[in-house]
Amino acid sequence: MTKKTIIAANWKMHKMADDVIAFFQQFLPLVEDMKASIWLAPSPVLLQQVLNITKNSSLKIGAQNISHEIYGAFTGETSIEQIAYLGASFVIIGHSERRRLFQETEDQITKKIGLTLTYNLTPLLCIGETLEEREQGLTQQVLRRQLSSALKLFPHFQGAIAYEPVWAIGTGKTATLEIIQETHQHCRDILKTLCETGEDTPLLYGGSVTENSAKHLKGIKEVDGVLVGGASLEALSLTAIIQGLTQ
Ligand code: PGA
Repeated sequence: MTKKTIIAANWKMHKMADDVIAFFQQFLPLVEDMKASIWLAPSPVLLQQVLNITKNSSLKIGAQNISHEIYGAFTGETSIEQIAYLGASFVIIGHSERRRLFQETEDQITKKIGLTLTYNLTPLLCIGETLEEREQGLTQQVLRRQLSSALKLFPHFQGAIAYEPVWAIGTGKTATLEIIQETHQHCRDILKTLCETGEDTPLLYGGSVTENSAKHLKGIKEVDGVLVGGASLEALSLTAIIQGLTQ
C-alpha cells in the first residue's frame, strides 16, 4: 500500500447517542497520531452528533446512503443536499445490503454517484459478487458490469471503491488473501480502462475484516484500505484494525 491507507467504518443501524459519546471518548485519543485516513459512516440520525464530536479531528464523516433524487415527496429518504449541508464528506453508495434488501438498481447507483460528486462529497462505491455468482465463475463478469454501469458517466471519477464479496459480509468468512489479491488486481485493471483516474482510485476490501485479517491485508498489492462493519463498533477493535494496516 503506497497511498494513504483508508479505514472506513460502516456502523449500519447500530448505536444510540450515549454509545456514540462513549465510543469517541475512547477512540479519539487512541487514533490522534495515526497516519491512516479514517472514515466513519453512522446512521443519518447520529450524523450531526458525530460531526460535532469529531469536528477538531481529521476523521472524515459520511452517510451510508442517499436518495437518488434531490428534492420531493420521497418518504423516508435522505437528500444529498441535507447530508452536504451538515458537513459530511463522503457517501457509501451501492452497498450490497442496499442492492439486495432494498432493490437498489444500477441506474439509481449511477445517479447517486453523480449527485455526490456534484455536491463535492466523495462517493465510496461498493461492488461484489454473491456466493452463487462466484461458484458459477461469474465474479469477474459481475464486477466488470457493476463498475462499468456505475462509472460510465464519470471518466474522471474522484472517489473510492470497496470490493466486498457479498458472502463475506457479516458472515465471519473473510475472503482468502489469494482471492483478494486476484480480485483487486482485476478491479484495478477495469478501473484503468474506465477512468483516467483509475490507476489511483483507492480500492478497499470489505467483508468480515477483523484485527487479525487486517494485519495480513497490509502487504497486498492493490489493497488501499478496508471497509469494516461489525468490527468497527468497538473503539478498541477499530483501533487494532487501523494499527494492523498501518504499523
Ligand atoms: P462486516 O461488514 O465487516 O460486518 O462484514 C462490512 C460491510 O458491510 O461493509
